Amino acid sequence: MNNYAVKVDNVFKSFKDETKNKIKKDFLSALFSRTQNRFYAVNGVSFAIDYGEIFGILGQNGSGKSTLIRMISTLLTLEKGSISVFGYDIVKDEYKVKQHINRVTVEASFFKKLSAFENLMYAASIYGVPRDEAKSRINEILGVLNLDLNRIHEPLENFSRGMQQKVAIGRAVLTSPSLLLLDEPTTGLDPKSKKDVQSFILKVRKTNNTTVILTTHDMEEADRICDRIAIIDKGKFITLNTPANLKNKFRKENETISLEDVFFEITGKEFKSDELEE
Ligand SMILES: Nc1ncnc2c1ncn2[C@@H]1O[C@H](COP(=O)(O)OP(=O)(O)OP(=O)(O)O)[C@@H](O)[C@H]1O
Ligand SMILES: [Mg+2]
Repeated sequence: MNNYAVKVDNVFKSFKDETKNKIKKDFLSALFSRTQNRFYAVNGVSFAIDYGEIFGILGQNGSGKSTLIRMISTLLTLEKGSISVFGYDIVKDEYKVKQHINRVTVEASFFKKLSAFENLMYAASIYGVPRDEAKSRINEILGVLNLDLNRIHEPLENFSRGMQQKVAIGRAVLTSPSLLLLDEPTTGLDPKSKKDVQSFILKVRKTNNTTVILTTHDMEEADRICDRIAIIDKGKFITLNTPANLKNKFRKENETISLEDVFFEITGKEFKSDELEE
């Protein structure tokens, strides 16, 4: 048993490198290349997160963020290393871990012909939340997320993508999970909705002491809500610190500095935000 909400120890995950399999090979080199033609999407990552911490993971497309989140959520198997969530090993105690976590991604799935309210009531019934309690929680949650409560009985297919994203986030907190895994929760949202979701995350943490792991391409967002951030590049964590410490480290005299500047200083790469096209 350790005292961390999440502990990740030297975790690796490789995938087949499709770009290397195009060339025809003889039998021996084909056999050899079965081990060679793989690349590490997550390449020896270790970190520990405190209870109630909001931990951000930043990195360019393909750097390994979602792969890491999927492993923590028990959706993908580990290749090497270990992960524990609230002291439970994600392999040995998978069921216990699943009871404590919820994950939100940009491609949330719903019953599109049903309304937001019906989708959430359905989720609540699966989780075993009593009907009356579910009803009041749904109204409260969607209200805090600034969703128009007059529209929550319309079919979800009428909702914009951003509105559906808010419903997905609302669904994830119905059961008050102790660990919330948010994979780009605000990508594609308008500035006002982004703020709504960020405030909501802060509120959930404040009221339930929920631990949050969040990936984002929005540096301002990371700066605003994360206690600490890690920058991941080609499957490796190349820095891990508080936003304030990172900025102080790279700030030149009397200059203002953003996390984007810090990212450039550390990686030598411009951080390009990658908003989804509507
Ligand atoms: N199931 C899979 N099979 C093969 N390759 C995969 C698989 N899942 C991820 N990858 C590869 O692993 C690398 C890391 O992908 P991942 O989705 O973790 O990146 P990411 O940091 O989440 O990127 P983004 O910012 O675009 O969401 C990429 O090169 C990706 O193509
Ligand atoms: Mg991703």
